[in-house]
Amino acid sequence: MISLKPFNSFGVESFAKEMIQIQKEEDLIEVNYNEGYRILGEGSNILLTQNQAVIILKNEIKGIQILQENDAYAYVKVGGGESWHSIVLWALQHNLGGIENLSLIPGSVGAAPVQNIGAYGVELKDVMVELNGFHIPDRAFLKFTNPSCHFGYRTSIFKTELKQNFFINSIVLKLTKKHVLQLNYGTILDELNALKIDNPKIQDVSKAIINIRNSKLPNPAILGNAGSFFKNTSISRKEFNALKLQFPQMPGYSENDEFVKVPSGWLIDQCGWKGRRKGDVGSYEKQALVLVNFGNASGFEILDFAMDIITSVKNRFGIELTPEVNIW
Ligand code: EPU
Repeated sequence: MISLKPFNSFGVESFAKEMIQIQKEEDLIEVNYNEGYRILGEGSNILLTQNQAVIILKNEIKGIQILQENDAYAYVKVGGGESWHSIVLWALQHNLGGIENLSLIPGSVGAAPVQNIGAYGVELKDVMVELNGFHIPDRAFLKFTNPSCHFGYRTSIFKTELKQNFFINSIVLKLTKKHVLQLNYGTILDELNALKIDNPKIQDVSKAIINIRNSKLPNPAILGNAGSFFKNTSISRKEFNALKLQFPQMPGYSENDEFVKVPSGWLIDQCGWKGRRKGDVGSYEKQALVLVNFGNASGFEILDFAMDIITSVKNRFGIELTPEVNIW
């Protein structure tokens, strides 16, 4: 038995049968999958609600390698067991752009495509060109192109059809040498102004993003959490227009002609959950979408709190929230 407490950013207790560290691709061939298994990166997007009577396969495949480069781009292969933010820092040191807006996102590189990590107007799908991994049921090493990953908002084929069946060994990122900055989202420009930077470089954008994240999101090393607990919610334009009559302040971002995305953080906040605490579980005081563990909450207690939020938002707005975090 092994405690998973140090291996999940919520810091909840849960025991697994065994943990195997996968350090190279060949290690995957030797595992006895018949005993049951689960794939774990850095545990920053899971909620453990029970013990795991399975083998945990921990992705520890490391490595950063420039495969190919020209005047405009560098193609960089990165091991699935690397820390995402360390790759962002490496790219900034090498003056390679495209992922600066994804600074400080917790978690491993292997987990990044699973939920198509995104922040401040950029998603992994905008920069990832190839993915390599191991299909466990077929015991086969496979290569995916970007379109074959079926990326969507916080989702991919690895979170749907291939859920827990595919171990991500490496990804290839297409990074820029002639940078195109994405500064339109939220408060990036305000933060750059506050830093007195008017001709920003990718390193400055990263600094601004880090400041914004630190001002809104709790550091999991200090306060257990898994980032946004729920996804933002897509509703029909018709439903949005009807709600807007009742709640004129309700924000919404147009996705296309038919759908509008409503920030779940706003809905939760409006229901009075922001900063509210029950035992050792709470909704973060600066961002209602983030649930936190103040110390000794169990995964089940966090789930219970989340269910109460879902019910309350449903009763007030008729909108059903969906968890973004994986529930084990
Ligand atoms: N809002 C409130 N009250 C709150 C929280 C938010 O009124 O307690 C309102 C804000 O005022 C704003 C809107 O909701 O009008 C959106 O808030 P914010 O810009 O903080 O972003 P978000 O939509 O809540 C998403 C991602 C974050 C990502 C940020 C920035 C999801 C589920 N979350 O949050 O990603 O960092 O945008 O791009 O899409 C994560 O996935 O773990 C994560 C942190």
